[in-house]
Amino acid sequence: MPHTVVIFGASGDLTSRKLIPALYLLHQKGRLPKDTRIVGVARTKYTPEAWREELAVSTKKFTGKEFDAAKWQSFAANVFYHSGNIDQPADFQSLARFLDELEAGQPTTRLYYLATAPSLYTAAIANLGAAGLANESRGVRRVVIEKPFGTDLKTAQELNRATHLVFSEKQVYRIDHYLGKETVQNILVLRFANSIFEPIWNRRYIDHVQITVAEEVDVGRRAGYYDQAGVLRDMFQNHLLQLAMITAMEAPTRYSAEFVRDEKLKVLRAIKPMSGADFARDTVRGQYEGYQSAEGVAPGSPTATFAAIKLHIENWRWQGVPFYLRSGKAMSCRTSQIVIQFRPPPIMMFSEGARTHHDPNKLVIQIQPDEGIQLHFQTKVPDQGMKLNTADLDFRFAREFTGVMPDAYQRLLLDAMNGDASLFARSDEVESAWAIIDPIHAAWQSPAAPPLDIYRSGQWGPESSDKWMWSQGRQWFDVCPVLR
Ligand code: BG6
Repeated sequence: MPHTVVIFGASGDLTSRKLIPALYLLHQKGRLPKDTRIVGVARTKYTPEAWREELAVSTKKFTGKEFDAAKWQSFAANVFYHSGNIDQPADFQSLARFLDELEAGQPTTRLYYLATAPSLYTAAIANLGAAGLANESRGVRRVVIEKPFGTDLKTAQELNRATHLVFSEKQVYRIDHYLGKETVQNILVLRFANSIFEPIWNRRYIDHVQITVAEEVDVGRRAGYYDQAGVLRDMFQNHLLQLAMITAMEAPTRYSAEFVRDEKLKVLRAIKPMSGADFARDTVRGQYEGYQSAEGVAPGSPTATFAAIKLHIENWRWQGVPFYLRSGKAMSCRTSQIVIQFRPPPIMMFSEGARTHHDPNKLVIQIQPDEGIQLHFQTKVPDQGMKLNTADLDFRFAREFTGVMPDAYQRLLLDAMNGDASLFARSDEVESAWAIIDPIHAAWQSPAAPPLDIYRSGQWGPESSDKWMWSQGRQWFDVCPVLR
């Protein structure tokens, strides 16, 4: 069946930086379904040739060494452009005619990708519906919605309602690009295609879990958006909670969208809601020095660019095992990692000198960069009595496999075209995630908030975050990946 991918927001950054390079590389690898056409829609009055030329330059820039001029030509031959305004129902009528002509009446699977400003999602969906573009009498119709999906529970519910007036849930693909990362999918493989981890993946053996998404960059030119969102809405509601769900979920009976998403949702439902004094005790917030002078940031802005949050997952597997989630901008290095820290042995009989505490076992899942997995364990130093040292088993994707790690969008676009929603968020999942974040966000605007601690760029957030961990007898695993 032929496919048409219609990208709304065709002149935007996401389209040139991520979507077109991903589609082009899929074409280059021969993975795009046969007869795939790409149609850009935006207000700009491009000719198709002008858009193609612009995309050739940006795709070359963003795919680097992988770019092949001849392959680009064959890809570009199927790239089209139709100018239109998301607010104008008439423009959708003309888009419908344009698509029908392009597809020459052949049954075609269509993917509508909303890469516009989030404030336009509702209008885009309503206008797609009004123009009959969601009707499936001549092929499957799907809509892909970028994050952020709402800005809180209420707006997410409204957006879900508006979406469901036009599309049924099985037509809707809500993107969280973290789920498209190879290393995130590999957590499912690590946990459910091996049998050695499952017996110890629980409260009997695990002391706590740390999930860190640290970024070295600051807010840059996105300050206008970021000052409204802050780290909670920008990173926690989506990426951090997704990583927590994948780490904590039960094994689905089958690898299929509904089974996977049912299990993920159960994790969110098991998270203990915070109230009262919990916010000051279980959350830390920070802002990097200089944030307030970024263009677009309101004077005296209290927006947090760093947060650490302790979550309690109240079920049989995780009762009493805290999940520490942490993310920030302008931190020491770019690293996303999950650390599973195991309990110490009940008795430590090898006590060399004053050192009776040894590093506990850790399983470190390095999401990016330098993707891999390390298992830290104690080992005897040869010829030194019973002196112990921490050693590690070290798996790196780059050593084990050749080729470039594909960008998350390749996998996600292909899955959406093929109708596999396993790596997309369901409506109830998105709403449950907001229901966890909203109370924290509200508390942070109230006297129940922990102090907003300032940190210098290039640190692991504010000092209070380290002290907070120490006060619980724990320590952050602050290691920048060694790129080899
Ligand atoms: C986006 C956030 O969703 O994820 C950005 O809006 C953030 O603020 C980005 O920089 C991080 O993604 P990645 O893939 O670079 O870790």
